[in-house]
Amino acid sequence: IPPTVYQHACETTLHLRNLLPETLQYPKVAIVCGSGLGGLADTIEAEPKVEVAYKDVPNFAQSTVQGHAGKLVFGQIGPSKVPVMLLVGRAHFYEGHTMDLVTFATRVCKVIGVETIIVTNAAGGLNQEYSVGDIVCLNDHLNMAGLVGIHPLRGPNIDDFGVRFPPLSDAYDLELRRRTHQAWKKVGLDKQKRRLHEGVYAFVAGPTYETRAECRMLRTLGADVVGMSTVPEIVVARHSGIRVLAFSLVTNSAVLEAGPRGDDETLQSMSKEELDQHLSQGKANHQEVLDAGRDAAKDMQALVKQILSDLYEA
Ligand code: 6GU
Repeated sequence: IPPTVYQHACETTLHLRNLLPETLQYPKVAIVCGSGLGGLADTIEAEPKVEVAYKDVPNFAQSTVQGHAGKLVFGQIGPSKVPVMLLVGRAHFYEGHTMDLVTFATRVCKVIGVETIIVTNAAGGLNQEYSVGDIVCLNDHLNMAGLVGIHPLRGPNIDDFGVRFPPLSDAYDLELRRRTHQAWKKVGLDKQKRRLHEGVYAFVAGPTYETRAECRMLRTLGADVVGMSTVPEIVVARHSGIRVLAFSLVTNSAVLEAGPRGDDETLQSMSKEELDQHLSQGKANHQEVLDAGRDAAKDMQALVKQILSDLYEA
């Protein structure tokens, strides 16, 4: 009989524990760093600190996206030295991985003893109130891929992790969200530069960015941000009872207006240059996603650190 996902997760956990000093063997919190948010790893300044490249972790996927280094960082955060596990870079479904592989690291989090997972990502803003650089604390999601059958829990239920039909009505921990808004006030960042919102994340499989019509559809359905990650991990985390807190960094604004029309009279009279200029506006691209991340990672880092200090100090 081939080994199960659960056995693989146990194997990986044992391998990792063997590389770690005793103080780091039972991380309480896992932090997943999304596109360009690897700077969160700097939250661990001092020893003990152990880094393991994903390529050296048995059963882990190799991440193939620019800006995702792909490593685990084990260390302690804050004065109370909470043992944490950072996941710098993640496997995405659009890379061609199975949902089992996309969520394998989350399974390992469960087996290694993680109680709370903080997931971050770069996302497109659908809510017109949001600006590029804003942070959205997720309070719900639309699992677009999941609803049509691309779901990490499809197949025989793994009872070692959780029940067949897990509820997701309170997937985004209210207590942690409450603490998040309190911590945001405490860190006192420039409100002109960056705001904190709460909103709904729509998960799409990618790898294309959305068309204008798709953006309008998702907005109509109630989504505030859209992205290609996070939801599979959250579903698997909730299945196994891990508490979840999730943040999106708004790296670009999705275009909600319908595009120019071929039958538009004024367009008919535009030169080729004018047309090109017109068309280059509002196109999502990976570079702006990475740029917005670099600056925001520091603020996100301060926020996460404050949340953890409050959580484990009290
Ligand atoms: Cl606009 N869409 C999706 N699907 N993912 C994104 C994004 C947009 N911006 C950053 N990540």
